[in-house]
Amino acid sequence: MSTIMTQIPDEKLFTMADTYHTPLYVFEEAMIRSRCREIKTSITYPHTVIRYACKALTLQAILKIIREEGYWIDASSLNEVLRALRAGFRPEEIYYTGEGATFAVYEELVQRGVLINCTSLDQIRLLGKVPGRTVCSIRTNPGEGSGETNKTNTGGPSSKHGIYFDQVEDAKSIAKAAGLRIIGVHAHIGSGGHSIEPWLRIKDLTLAIASTFPDLQFVNFGGGLPVVYNETKQKPMPIRDWGKALSESMEAFSQKMGREITLQIEPGRYIVAHSGTLLAEVQAVKSTPDYRFVIVNTGLNHNIRPSMYGSFHPIRFARRNPGAGSDKHAYVVAGYLCESGDVFTVKDDGSGILEPREFEELSVGDLMVMGCVGAYSHTMKNEYNSMNLPASVLVCEDGSVNVIERRGTLKDIMQREVEAYSEGR
Ligand SMILES: Cc1ncc(COP(=O)(O)O)c(C=O)c1O
Repeated sequence: MSTIMTQIPDEKLFTMADTYHTPLYVFEEAMIRSRCREIKTSITYPHTVIRYACKALTLQAILKIIREEGYWIDASSLNEVLRALRAGFRPEEIYYTGEGATFAVYEELVQRGVLINCTSLDQIRLLGKVPGRTVCSIRTNPGEGSGETNKTNTGGPSSKHGIYFDQVEDAKSIAKAAGLRIIGVHAHIGSGGHSIEPWLRIKDLTLAIASTFPDLQFVNFGGGLPVVYNETKQKPMPIRDWGKALSESMEAFSQKMGREITLQIEPGRYIVAHSGTLLAEVQAVKSTPDYRFVIVNTGLNHNIRPSMYGSFHPIRFARRNPGAGSDKHAYVVAGYLCESGDVFTVKDDGSGILEPREFEELSVGDLMVMGCVGAYSHTMKNEYNSMNLPASVLVCEDGSVNVIERRGTLKDIMQREVEAYSEGR
C-alpha cells in the first residue's frame, strides 16, 4: 500500500469529482497535522521555532491548521505576510525572506513588526534607511547547496540566493554603519533533494558563520527536507536521526556561545507535499505508432512540476467501470493544454523525454488521481489557455469535505483587464 498517496476510497473520490467538478485539488488535514507533529517531536532542543514556508501552499484553511500546530511563518512576499496575518499569525511570528525588495515593502514590514531577513548587501543598505528598524537577520550562502534539480538548488556559487559566505564581514560593517543589529543568520540550501547529508553538512558551515556574530539570537537552517515522490526509487528521510543530529549540534553551539541560541527551521514541502491530490477526468485516449496517450482535463497549469523540473508524481486511475478490460497498457499521461510539453509522465532527468506508465485499460470518464501535489503545485498554478482554476477542498479529520477555494470563472480571468480597460476609456 502506498504511504504517499491518498487512502480515500475511489467511491468518495468519484463523489467529490462529481460534486465539485474536475479538475479538483483535494487536501487532507490529517496528513498535514501528522507531518507537523513528526518534525516537532523529532527535535528535542528546547529553544526551537519551526516556521512553515508558506510559499509551498498558502491557502487560508491550510495556514490555520499549521498555526494550530504551533508553527510560525516564513514568507517570501508582502502578500504572503498579509495572508499569514489574515490567517491569525501575529507579526512577531512572521519572518520575511525576499530576494528583491523595495523601500515601501520594507517600510510596511517594519511598521507591522515583521522581522526581515536581508538576502543581499544592498538589502541591508536599504533596510538601514527605513525609520524604526533596529534589527535584522541575514540570509547567507554557505558555498554549497542541494536540491531536486539545479533549478531548486539555492546554495553554492551558481545560486543567486543570499550573501556569499566570503562577504559576511561586509554585511556586518554595512549593518553597523546603518545602526542595525544582526540577530539571526539564515541559510536555505535547496528544495527537494533526496538526502539529508548535504543538509547536515551545510548546518555546520552555517553554524561556523553564525558563531562570528556578536548579537546572534538565532540560526535558521531553512527548509529543504527531502520528500518521497517515487516510492520505488526514494526512501523516507530518517527524521528522528535528523532531529537528533540537529538538537545535539544546537546544544553544543549554545554551550560554545555561552548563551541559548534559538534554532529555527522553515520546511514547506515536507509538511504539505503528501497532503494534496489532483483529480482530473480522462477526456480522450489516443495512439500514435509509438505511444498511447491518455488526455486528462488538467495540465501543467495545475501542476507545473513535471514539465518544469521533470518531477515524478505518483498517478493511478479510478475506473468508472471497474469491470473494463484488465490488460495493462503503457500510457503517456498528458494534459489538455495546447503545449507539447504538457505531459505528466516524463523522465525525471529534466530532459522532457516521454516515459509511459502501465495502467489497466482506460476510457473516457475514468478519474486520474495524482498524488503528492500539496507543495508548489497549487501555488504555481496559472490560467494558461484561459482555463478556469480548479476548486480546492479540504478533507477534515472527521471525514467531512469542505470547499476552501471555489472554482475559477471567466470573470476572475478577465477582472483586472476589464477594470483597466473601462477605467482607461
Ligand atoms: C528561504 C526558503 N526557506 C524555506 C523554503 C522551503 O523549502 P522546502 O519547501 O523544500 O522545505 C524555501 C523554498 O524555496 C526557501 O526559499
